[in-house]
Amino acid sequence: MKGKKKRGPVIAIDGPSGVGKTTISRLVAGRLGLRYINTGSMYRALALAAKDEGVDLTSEKELEEFCRRARIGFDAEKGSTIINGKDYSDRIRSQSAGELASIVSTKKPVREFLVSFQRTLGEPGSVVMEGRDIGTAVFPDADMKFFLDAPLWVRAKRRHLEVAQKVKAASEDVTSELEKRDKRDIERANSPLKKADDAIYIDTGEMQAEEVANIVLAKIGERLKVGDIRS
Ligand code: DC
Repeated sequence: MKGKKKRGPVIAIDGPSGVGKTTISRLVAGRLGLRYINTGSMYRALALAAKDEGVDLTSEKELEEFCRRARIGFDAEKGSTIINGKDYSDRIRSQSAGELASIVSTKKPVREFLVSFQRTLGEPGSVVMEGRDIGTAVFPDADMKFFLDAPLWVRAKRRHLEVAQKVKAASEDVTSELEKRDKRDIERANSPLKKADDAIYIDTGEMQAEEVANIVLAKIGERLKVGDIRS
């Protein structure tokens, strides 16, 4: 956060798939009047853009080449990542986009490309940024860091309900999908999913999203002055 004048805090919210980061981050950002940035959507959009161009998503070399040529932007109003002029919002929420994102997110050139973009977006401050590595790699000096967690079975149950509501039938094996995603996120060599030493750990397993958001807001209120947040 060097150079540019920071208008307000950077709040990092990390945690595994299906823990409710998006709902909670949106609630917190909305209540505090901060910008909300979902970095998972960027990995999803990039994976789809690269796949559409015929890039081999398992090839670090091809992905590096793709990132070198790619133009990336962010539509703050919609919260959409724009790659080479295209908005991928209508496709990013699918199970397959999540799977592809999880594959490309293990690749170093992709992480370097997106982390640098995320820093540019977050540097002015007044932002809640959610992901896997915000507190450890993107903004290690974030003003506040939270790590949300919940047991696998709780996350699977939540995800299962989400999927069932959308497609009116739960066809896939949600638990094994999440387990696979966890493994890839935790074991990858490049900025793996990990709680930052100075992050506040919250087990959301037995809580509703509102309760979690209230805890996050209370912790922010304890640590940061109101002026820091609303300036
Ligand atoms: O949060 P999500 O499910 O939309 O993220 C999709 C994938 O992107 C996830 O499997 C891991 C990856 N990801 C990442 O590696 N780093 C981030 N900051 C955010 C997401």
